[in-house]
Amino acid sequence: MEDKLSEVKKILSKYNQEHLIQFYSELTGKQKSDLLNQILKIDFEEILNLYEESKLEVLNSTENIEPLDYSIKANFSKSEKKQLTSIGVKAIKSGKVGVITLAGGQGSRLGFSGPKGTFSLDTTPRKSLFEILCDYLKKYATRYNVNIPWYIMTSTNNYFDTISFFEQNNFFEYGRNNIIFFVQDNMPIVDINGKLVLSEIYKVNLASNGNGNLFSALRKANLIKDMEQKKLQWLFVGGIDNVLLDPLDPIFIGHTINSKFEIGSKTLFKENPSDISWVFARKNNRPAIADCENFTEEISKLTDGKGKYLYREKNMLAHIFSLKAITKMANIKFPYHRAFRKNAFVNFEGMKEVPEKPNIYKFEQFVFDAFSYFNNIALLRVNADEEFAPIKDFTSIYNPEVAAQRYEELILNS
Ligand code: UTP
Repeated sequence: MEDKLSEVKKILSKYNQEHLIQFYSELTGKQKSDLLNQILKIDFEEILNLYEESKLEVLNSTENIEPLDYSIKANFSKSEKKQLTSIGVKAIKSGKVGVITLAGGQGSRLGFSGPKGTFSLDTTPRKSLFEILCDYLKKYATRYNVNIPWYIMTSTNNYFDTISFFEQNNFFEYGRNNIIFFVQDNMPIVDINGKLVLSEIYKVNLASNGNGNLFSALRKANLIKDMEQKKLQWLFVGGIDNVLLDPLDPIFIGHTINSKFEIGSKTLFKENPSDISWVFARKNNRPAIADCENFTEEISKLTDGKGKYLYREKNMLAHIFSLKAITKMANIKFPYHRAFRKNAFVNFEGMKEVPEKPNIYKFEQFVFDAFSYFNNIALLRVNADEEFAPIKDFTSIYNPEVAAQRYEELILNS
């Protein structure tokens, strides 16, 4: 242990992170060895480089930005709807579609301590976010008498809690074998001065490294093979918190398959041209989601001359990837984006503090960075009133009360 301690001391001094062993003398033998092992596994070079790079001002240029084409669900004629639905249903019925749920987030804005999917909605009957999603899957599995594999990505922190929640609920009668859990990687978080943070006096705070870690996490868990064996061809990829999101919407599946592209995405119309939410665009001739900070209102108001806006399609985290596309992405190293978030930490007196405002930087990979590896993407604009009610926090419109009301109105009582 002494050798390990001196190795750790050397590393920490090289990277100015000595505070991580500030409480070392107060720890039990096991805590000491856990902490040293944890520190030895951290790539300080990588995390501190990310921190330094992220301080540089990013120049967002609108050069090389072109519009991406999209369809509008509400504008489909009856016969178009029928045709796309039948393509989607055929794929579901023949067992070619699986569902991936990204459930590895921290839910820090919601401030809920368990896995976000276990958060329950004040509906009658009460339902957790996991059960709500499972209900959508069960509907199609029963209707078409087919097994629809459900892959759930968790963080290292919430993996066991997620599984035990499913066990307690008997896997919502969906069948244990139809639900596959896998874990994503994590990454240290740093404070505004570039110091790593302790979550306990014996533990460095590691957070999941963003939903874009999906592809490599699938590969590491050997699940791409599993998907091949199950003869899946299309995988829906979505988040855990939008209670109106139907992962097996046949029109969306049909629209993506019909496009002949490898990927598809649902979009929402950006109502306000001065809203800085990122929008879908072709960037350097590849599909992307572009940061709009440098978009003038003028760009946001551009149309194709027939009233169709060019740069107003927002991401709602509802994508379809072909298995071929997932396989391609599994060996690609994704870039990291920096997010400023609120996270509890151990202060210099060894006490746990829960901050009121954002205090740390998290580095995250995003699923949508996959888009630029393809020539095109099938975009389908859907109506936010019908398909978008996420739970993000208690203060914005994306709060649990609104989501519960809309879920009751549109799904439970419809
Ligand atoms: P958000 O970015 O909204 O994060 O994730 P969050 O964890 O729900 O909440 P905040 O930002 O900490 O408040 C969108 C989706 O991506 C998943 C989340 O679980 C959610 O379904 N996600 C996010 C992951 O699977 N892994 C991650 O590392 C981050």
